[in-house]
Order: sequence, then structure tokens, then C-alpha cells
Amino acid sequence: MVRRAVVVSVLGAATAMLGCGTETGAPSGTGASAGSGSTGSAPSTGGSGGTAGESGGTAGTSGGTAGTSGGTAGTSAGMAGASAAGAAGAGGDTNQVTWAEHIAPIVYAECVGCHREGGIAPFSLTGYDAAARAADVIAELTAAREMPPMPVDNSGSCNTYSNARWLTDAEIATFAAWAAAGAPPGDLARAPALPAAAAGLDRIDVTLDPGVAYTPNDTLSDDYRCFLVDPGIEENAYVVAYDVIPGDARVVHHAIVYQPKTDEDSLEAEALDAAEEGLGYTCFGASGVPADPIVIWAPGGSVVTMPAGTGLALAPRKLILQVHYNLEAGAFPDRTVVRLKTEPTVGLPGLYQPIADLDLMALPGQDLIVTTRTITLDTPVVSATVYGVAPHMHTLGKTLRLDARVGSRDQCLVDVDRWDFHWQNMWWYDTPLRAAGVSEFTLSCGYDTSDRSEVITWGEGTRDEMCLVYLYVTL
Ligand code: HEC
Repeated sequence: MVRRAVVVSVLGAATAMLGCGTETGAPSGTGASAGSGSTGSAPSTGGSGGTAGESGGTAGTSGGTAGTSGGTAGTSAGMAGASAAGAAGAGGDTNQVTWAEHIAPIVYAECVGCHREGGIAPFSLTGYDAAARAADVIAELTAAREMPPMPVDNSGSCNTYSNARWLTDAEIATFAAWAAAGAPPGDLARAPALPAAAAGLDRIDVTLDPGVAYTPNDTLSDDYRCFLVDPGIEENAYVVAYDVIPGDARVVHHAIVYQPKTDEDSLEAEALDAAEEGLGYTCFGASGVPADPIVIWAPGGSVVTMPAGTGLALAPRKLILQVHYNLEAGAFPDRTVVRLKTEPTVGLPGLYQPIADLDLMALPGQDLIVTTRTITLDTPVVSATVYGVAPHMHTLGKTLRLDARVGSRDQCLVDVDRWDFHWQNMWWYDTPLRAAGVSEFTLSCGYDTSDRSEVITWGEGTRDEMCLVYLYVTL
């Protein structure tokens, strides 16, 4: 069921989503205009003005971008090869890449957040022996940028992120050289010590806890479950930091806390809960009721601290904790808990502003079909700061790109070149973006629909898709 309420313009201007172009990713977009902009897609506040954008042309641009980033990946693989050869050629022991001196520092900084005892990854990389056994596959997966997992491009062509999981080309080359040299240990006595697991919040004000464990449905490969959780507060507050404690890291693939928009929406969620057997209720792409996210989390991260001076408004009403269980390792019972640090007030209230293509239409049977929508604001944004992005698609998603038209130029907000539904995350810009003067957004999503025989549209179900970016903004 389409939840139009997902998009509410809080940028002080109504957005109108008109002119839907759909094409197969070829750079020259004639843009078959499937499903023209319906007024239903316009947010309810402030009417539905706005100008239709040239979406065919924009779709063409995004095809070109995909090509460019493929080229970049090729280059970095080439560099890894070249440096690996260089390092091996240098010969002498002093130049040899070793675990103790070169590899352990990278692995301890970039990998053991997940690859450690009790972590989400299937094996740990917490010492020489384990890493040496995997040296070849490490070299391969790092060169392909499949590990560490980061669906968002951090090369600098469209922003860089403070919480990026991103190896430099030199680090990738170091892994390649180490594998090529037969994974030498070096002087293990001089290897760095394994860093302690990430510390938690320095203060816990609110604990969101379903109360009992939930055993995922073992007839599914993925179980998506929404639990009602009570923040137990009486006054409004602001979330300034959060930490998610998976009950059993082997099954918890991501967690999102949604705040129902109104008390009634909260009651509607309780009704959904009551209508289904067992703890919680089934939900996939969202919470099932009109709601905004306040916590967006995927494993491997530690405490998430909202940008200094900002926080998310928290009302005294029940929240919805959505957990994605991946049951590849087994259907282990889980009781995931979310801890919040709150303040009674903050200097600048922040919020997650959704930018979405609610009328997306993806034709079936395509290896990559890119849908593009131009979202025009009635009135340009007067003043706003964007601190980070959380892109969201479902399992057919491959690519996503969001640009903002600032004055007469385009500012890339996020470029996803390898979407993976398993890694739902908030990505924080190294440098927050000023969004003063934004008049238009262009949002493109690419899907692999080769296994489908029916047109795919927006929806919360596992077979529906989304094309959505949450921007964390202050006004
Ligand atoms: C955010 C968590 C996370 C981080 C960080 C991470 N990994 Fe992984 N890794 C995983 C998960 C989970 C898997 C299992 C496959 C999957 O789900 O993609 C995996 C799988 C792997 C595999 C494949 C095992 C196989 O046999 O296919 C290798 C090799 C690997 N990781 C190496 C690394 C290296 C090297 C780093 C750091 C440079 C790293 N990973 C960082 C989560 C992580």
C-alpha cells in the first residue's frame, strides 16, 4: 500500500513531483513517460505547484555517470596491481609488506568492527593466522571494494563521509602486495594490539526494549519485524546520540527506529501489532504507519552522535523498532535494544527530510532500469544545512543518485554505485552542505528487474521498491 505521507515537505515549500521518465539506462534518454506526475504524489502542505522538469535529459546524465564510476573502479584495480608488482619487485625484506607492520593497522581500523568474536561477519580477522588464511580473498574483495561494505561512493566525486568504510587505493594495493608475497607475518611481537570493541554511550537516558526475545521465522531467509517500544518519557526531548545493541549479532542485519507522526499513528501501529501473532508485526520497507525515522543503523557502526548542537525531536509516544533478520546463520532468538542519549533542548533541531519518488515505475526484465524524477520546489530553500544522507531502496536497487539544483549549478548529495539492502546506514558528510537557494532535486534510482515479470512500483512490501533518500537537515 502506498503511504503518500512518507514525504512531507518541511523545507518551507511544497514539492511537486512531476514528469516521470523511465528508461533502460542508455545515455540518450527519450524517457518513456510512464505514469505522469499525479497530484497525489505532492506533499499535502502548501498545495501542489511546481514545474515539470526535463526528466528525460536528466536520466541520460545519470547513465553517463554510471559509466564514469565503472571507469574509476577499473583504474583503482589497475593501480593495486601496479603497486603490488612494485612492492614485490622491491624485494628486500625491509620493503616487504607484513602483517605486523602494514596489514594489522588497516585490518584493526577498518575490519574488526564486524570481523571479531560476536560480530556480524562470518569469521574474525583479529589475529595473524585468521587473516593469513584469508589473504587471497581479502585482496580480491578489497580490490573490488566489496569489503569493507559501503554502498555509497566515497571517492570524492560526490562527497566524502566521516563514517566512511572506504580503503584508500594505497591500502588496497597493500593488501594485494601482502597476498602476492604469501602473507608474511613480520615481527609479530611488534604487531599492534587488537583495539577494544567500541565503547557505548557516555549516558543512557532512554532504552527502547521490546521486553522479550523474538525468534525469527525460520521458514524465511529474511524476516522483517516491527516491535512497539515505549521511550517512557513524559516530556518532549531531543535525541543527540544513539547506540544499537543487537541481541544476537548473527541475525540482526539492520535496525531502524520510526517515530509515528501522531499519537493516532502510534495507536495504529499498536493495532497492527495486536492483529498479528507473536511479538511485533511484519513490516518490510517501512513501519506500516506514517512515521519518521529517528535511528538508522546497520552493524559495524558504534555509537552514532548527531552533529554537534543538533538533535531529533522525540515525543512521548510509542515508537516502532524495525529489525531486519537475516537467517543465513540460523533463526536465533534476538532481543535488540536501542539506547538513546537525549537532551531537553538543542541549539538546532534536526530532522530527516525524505526526498522520494513515490510514483516510481520500473519495467520488468531489465538488467538495469534507471528511473529519474525531478522534484521542483515552489520556493527555493532559504537556508538549510545538510549533514548526512541515508539512501533507501529495496532488494532490486543497484544505483541511486540525488542532486540538488543550487542556484544555477547541480550539487551532488549522494551517489550510490553498489546498493546492498543489507547496509542501511546514515552517512555523515565530512563537510556539511549549505542548501541555501535549492530549487530543485533530481533523484535517480537504478534497478535490476531481470527476475521480474510485472511492473514494479513504490510500496512497503518485499516485492515493491522504493527510491528514497533521507537528508539529515537543520533549517
Ligand atoms: C560493516 C561490517 C564489515 C566490515 C567493516 C568488514 N566486513 Fe568483511 N564481511 C562482513 C560480512 C557481514 C561478511 C559476510 C558476507 C556478506 O554479508 O557480505 C563479510 C565477508 C568478508 C569476506 C568474505 C568471506 C568469504 O569467504 O566470502 C572477506 C574476505 C572479508 N569480509 C574481508 C574484510 C576485510 C579485509 C575488511 C576490512 C578491510 C572487512 N571485511 C570489513 C562484514 C564486514
